[in-house]
Amino acid sequence: MPRQKNKITIVGSGNVGATAAHWAVTKELGDVVLIDIVEGIPQGKGLDLFESTPVEGSDCRILGTNDYKDTKDSDVVVITAGLPRKPGMSRDDLLFKNAEIVKLVTQSVVKYSPNAVLVIVSNPLDAMAYVAKKVSGFPKGRVMGMAGVLDTARFRTFIAEALNVSVRDVTTLVLGGHGDEMVPFPRLTTVGGVPLTELLPQDKIQKLVDRARQGGAEIVNLLKTGSAYYAPGASVIEMVESILKDKKRILPCAAYLEGEYGFKGIYLGVPAKLGANGVEQVMEFKLTDDEQKALTKSADSVKDLIGKLKL
Ligand code: NAI
Ligand code: 2OP
Repeated sequence: MPRQKNKITIVGSGNVGATAAHWAVTKELGDVVLIDIVEGIPQGKGLDLFESTPVEGSDCRILGTNDYKDTKDSDVVVITAGLPRKPGMSRDDLLFKNAEIVKLVTQSVVKYSPNAVLVIVSNPLDAMAYVAKKVSGFPKGRVMGMAGVLDTARFRTFIAEALNVSVRDVTTLVLGGHGDEMVPFPRLTTVGGVPLTELLPQDKIQKLVDRARQGGAEIVNLLKTGSAYYAPGASVIEMVESILKDKKRILPCAAYLEGEYGFKGIYLGVPAKLGANGVEQVMEFKLTDDEQKALTKSADSVKDLIGKLKL
């Protein structure tokens, strides 16, 4: 039987939202609804993107709107609505304003798409995923946050550059919250199957780790008017693709934990299996004492933010 096309709603038609829409259409993942609180922006960007489809040969419809009715029965909803960072701001400075925005947006989204999978992008990421889960009342697997794919992509980029090898051959993992305490795993990093620790000295690896952890701030300091969007847009669509195609990829993402790695009742970046039901499994593995300590520190900063929200 012919399957109906997937429907992807992207809330927030700013830099990340519009870029994510672009990747989704390029990959022909389904029809895309771009929605924003500002009138004209989603309509203009949506139409512009729609007019690119003949050039790309991509048979996707793109609709720009301010009306949540148009988002009805979406399969996946990506939430990018909110304020981005400016130089000198941490992701956590966005907490209260973006919590209010994510709350309002989630309420509107779930009213029209009660069966959707929600992928949160707005910062501070782990706390915003928590807000969306709480407000939606969705089962934990259907609400997740995007961060690990981006943080891992940055680490992979810097490693590939340092070794002058293809980015495709660098596999790594960055876990924990999407903040200054995120935890890159050099121990589990391989280049064409060879451990990174055999290819570079410890001090060089540490420099790459530090750069990956500061990857978001590096872009903010260059742009001055906002934060990164090409890599974030590509990263969130990699997750959306795995969900819509039920690929069951193992990707690092912010998942709701109920005891995994020793944490309960918070969102934290962990390796997760992404399929048609959203997060279908959190993959657990044994950490060294130092890794567990670093992950606990990162989880503590997420807990602290969630606590401030008093939800
Ligand atoms: P942007 O300012 O370009 O776009 C945000 C859009 O949200 C604007 O168009 C704005 O009008 C819209 N918006 C605000 N309130 C809204 C509401 N109530 N309903 C619908 N739309 C609303 O910002 P950008 O660069 O797209 O970033 C968006 C968010 O994503 C920020 O919070 C940023 O920190 C976060 N981010 C997270 C990343 C991650 O790895 N999780 C990576 C990059 C950005
Ligand atoms: C980033 O890492 C700002 O969270 C965003 O680029």
